[in-house]
Amino acid sequence: MDAQFWHQRWRENLIGFHQESVNPHLQRFWPEVVAPARGTTLVPLCGKSLDMVWLGKRAPVLGVELSEQAVAAFFSEQGLQPRRDREGAFERWHSGNLTLYCGDFFELETAQTRAVSAIYDRAALIALPAAMRPAYAAKLTELAPPGCQLLLITLAYPQAQMEGPPFSVDEAEVQALFGGHWQIRSLLQEDILERESRFRQRGLSALTEQVSLLQKTPPPPA
Ligand SMILES: C[S@@+](CC[C@H](N)C(=O)[O-])C[C@H]1O[C@@H](n2cnc3c(N)ncnc32)[C@H](O)[C@@H]1O
Repeated sequence: MDAQFWHQRWRENLIGFHQESVNPHLQRFWPEVVAPARGTTLVPLCGKSLDMVWLGKRAPVLGVELSEQAVAAFFSEQGLQPRRDREGAFERWHSGNLTLYCGDFFELETAQTRAVSAIYDRAALIALPAAMRPAYAAKLTELAPPGCQLLLITLAYPQAQMEGPPFSVDEAEVQALFGGHWQIRSLLQEDILERESRFRQRGLSALTEQVSLLQKTPPPPA
C-alpha cells in the first residue's frame, strides 16, 4: 500500500472506512480506561475522522495523514480555518486543540511526540499490509513515551476470503507486534458479520472486531 494508493482513494472518494459519526468503542472505552488527559492524543493515519473532534474536546490532538485532500476536508467540514506552517517533514495544519501533520507517519520523530500521553488507532494498523505492520508497530513504540496508552481497534477475518485493506489482524498478531514493549489488555471481541453487509458481500464468512488497551512499559533499568 504505497502513498499513491491512498492518494487515489481520496481523489476518487473511495473512503468506505470513513465513519459519519464518532466511533462507539471510542466513546465507551476512552473515558473508562484511558487515564485522564495529561497530554496530547496521537492519531496516526487519521484520515478526516470525526473521532478527532471528540478527542479534541478532551485534550490536544495530533493527527498524522498522508493525504492533503483529507486534511483540508477535515478542517473545512468542521468549519475551521487552520493556520498552516512547516514542521520538519510535515505541513502542519492547526486550529485550537486540533493539529494535523500532513505527510508520511514514518517520518515522525520522537521530538514531535514528547507531549503524547495516549494514542488512538482505529483503521490504521489494519490499513497496512502484513509486511508493513512490524515497521508501524516499531514506529509507534519508538514514538510513545513510557506509560503512554494506546486504544487499538482491529478486525479479524479469514484473510484468504478478502483482499485488504482493511487487513485481518488477530489477537495473536497484536501480541507478536506489541507484546515486547507494551502490556496488552483485551477489552472487547465482538462478532460483527451480521451488521457489516458490505463485508458479507465481499465474501467473508466471519468477522470479529477487537478493542485492546495497550500500555507502554518503562525501559528495563540499565
Ligand atoms: C483506512 S484509513 C483510516 C483513517 C482513519 N483512521 C479513520 O478511522 O477514518 C487509513 C488512512 O491512512 C492514511 N495513510 C496511509 N499511509 C499513511 C502514512 N504512511 N502516513 C500517513 N497517513 C497514511 C490514508 O491516506 C488513509 O486516510
